[in-house]
Amino acid sequence: MDKPIIIALDFNSPEQALSLLAQLDPGQCRVKIGKELFTTAGPDLVRKTVDLGFDVFLDLKYHDIPNTVAKSVSAAANLGVWMVNVHASGGAVMMEAAREALEGVNGKRPLLIAVTVLTSLAKEDLEQVGIAANPEEQVSKLAFLAQRSGLDGVVCSAAETRLLRSQLSSDFCLVTPGIRRPEDATDDQKRVVGPVQAIENGSNYLVVGRPITQADSPAQALDAFNSALAGL
Ligand code: C5P
Repeated sequence: MDKPIIIALDFNSPEQALSLLAQLDPGQCRVKIGKELFTTAGPDLVRKTVDLGFDVFLDLKYHDIPNTVAKSVSAAANLGVWMVNVHASGGAVMMEAAREALEGVNGKRPLLIAVTVLTSLAKEDLEQVGIAANPEEQVSKLAFLAQRSGLDGVVCSAAETRLLRSQLSSDFCLVTPGIRRPEDATDDQKRVVGPVQAIENGSNYLVVGRPITQADSPAQALDAFNSALAGL
């Protein structure tokens, strides 16, 4: 299994992110840059991270009209990122436009994945925005739509992985946050799953933040995650 751990760089300054990156080996992990760090540090930090040799998942969850999203994922590809994402609820035409925009990218195109239903939304929240389906039904529906629109995968919670793996094609990529070993603090995550269990349930990549970024030795914590997964 090739570098399944994606470390979430959830920091509010480029200095903190770079200081962590200096302690990590790009041969042992990938990294995720989300909205907070990107809004603070911008494309410059993304380029620096790519230049350090890291595969970057740019987690900006684009959701807009098809033309804007297509141009945005193209701009992300030009930064050299490895993975980029959009909201599946932006619709098939938006996802297809994003996918087509990436076809025109020179060199290796980034993986394009979708967010289905945010795990912060319960049934009542969906009802308030006019969606009658249960969160699980909506997740499946949007994951199928993402697959049909030519996307490479979806972000899904540990609780959804097994079902989605059974419903979607085997090469469709599942990216799963909410990962904790028994000895890790759960922080604000409600439902966590262990790294081995998550991979056995069908995840391809595991997003891990605080158990590594806040560890006394992030490199040792990463080693422990990788060792647990070695041989799977
Ligand atoms: O520190 P921790 O391991 O909880 O970080 C998990 C990362 O995954 C954070 O960047 C968080 O925003 C992201 N994420 C999540 N749950 C989702 C989607 C993304 O925890 N459903």
